[in-house]
Amino acid sequence: MKANIVLLPGDGIGPEVIDETVRVLNVISKKHGHQFNFAERLMGGCSIDKFGASLTDETLADCVASDAVLLGAVGGPKWDDPNAKDRPEKGLLALRKGLGVFANLRPVKVHPKLINSSSLKPEKLIGVDILVIRELTGGLYFGWPKGRDIKDGRERAVDTLEYYDYEIKRVVELAFKLARGRRKRITSVDKANVLESSRLWRQITTQVGFENPDIELGHILIDTAAMRLITNPASMDVIVTENMFGDILTDEASVLAGSMGMLPSASLGVHGPGLYEPIHGSAPDIAGKGIANPIGTILSSALMLRYSLNLEKEAKEIENAVDTVIFEGARTADLGGKLKSGELTDILISRILNQE
Ligand code: IPM
Ligand code: MG
Repeated sequence: MKANIVLLPGDGIGPEVIDETVRVLNVISKKHGHQFNFAERLMGGCSIDKFGASLTDETLADCVASDAVLLGAVGGPKWDDPNAKDRPEKGLLALRKGLGVFANLRPVKVHPKLINSSSLKPEKLIGVDILVIRELTGGLYFGWPKGRDIKDGRERAVDTLEYYDYEIKRVVELAFKLARGRRKRITSVDKANVLESSRLWRQITTQVGFENPDIELGHILIDTAAMRLITNPASMDVIVTENMFGDILTDEASVLAGSMGMLPSASLGVHGPGLYEPIHGSAPDIAGKGIANPIGTILSSALMLRYSLNLEKEAKEIENAVDTVIFEGARTADLGGKLKSGELTDILISRILNQE
């Protein structure tokens, strides 16, 4: 098959992990006779430096017209001025909104060999296999009004947590669909004891639950969820939640996997390209050293093959190769190893080529 993929390497370690992932994808395309056309564009701090904007209209248009977008990471101390008009993160949010990717899938699986890399007790981690589905284009990140003003002689800042019924329904319906292919258990996370938006969230989720009686649905409050994720993570299957709760919970969940560097994500809409990115940031402290863990991005590219390009076999080959290299003890520095990003990728590629 032919696919047009836009690469947005971004800032910090972003370009390094994207380079390694492109090597993997080139091996996959050669092995299976596909043609992946890559177009590289700037987004984030690098785009502010070059064009004065974190995401240009042209870059967004190229992303919208593509089959899939693969992103490294954005941000860094250079663009952290709180008074700046534009920020790298703003480009990322505009990209998510512009692509209409309302569902952010963040699978968290604990590899048996990495159980001791987590700061949690090993016995808590056995069998952990969670899919967090985070609503991505609504809530506090995008609600209006938003901003600062002077009111009654006081400086005031406002963010608005807003959700429409259809925004909740579409992401929750996707959660039910994905739960069907797993252990058929959904935990919906909200703050319905306090927030009106959460009460609507719970109402809609309950309705969707009635329409899908084969799936077990539970509701818990975000504070309880934060605790449960640490005390009994193996009891959780699919978690569905609003934008900011999902942002916070997935950083917490990444601790289970031993390193943030391991975790991929896929952001999906109804039509159009998906957006694929590791959940880690740009890690400016290790940028340029060639030691970043490329696995989060490589696994994100496997999700891209699965969800945007319909290449399940190829996706599985990458995931199997990752399992194998971790099993064999290949480790970058985040997991206490000595391998450089490129060396780990070399081993991973050989494990892809080994598979029938
Ligand atoms: C994430 C990040 C982003 C978010 C930032 C960089 C805007 O933390 O993808 O989880 O909050 O969504
Ligand atoms: Mg985050």
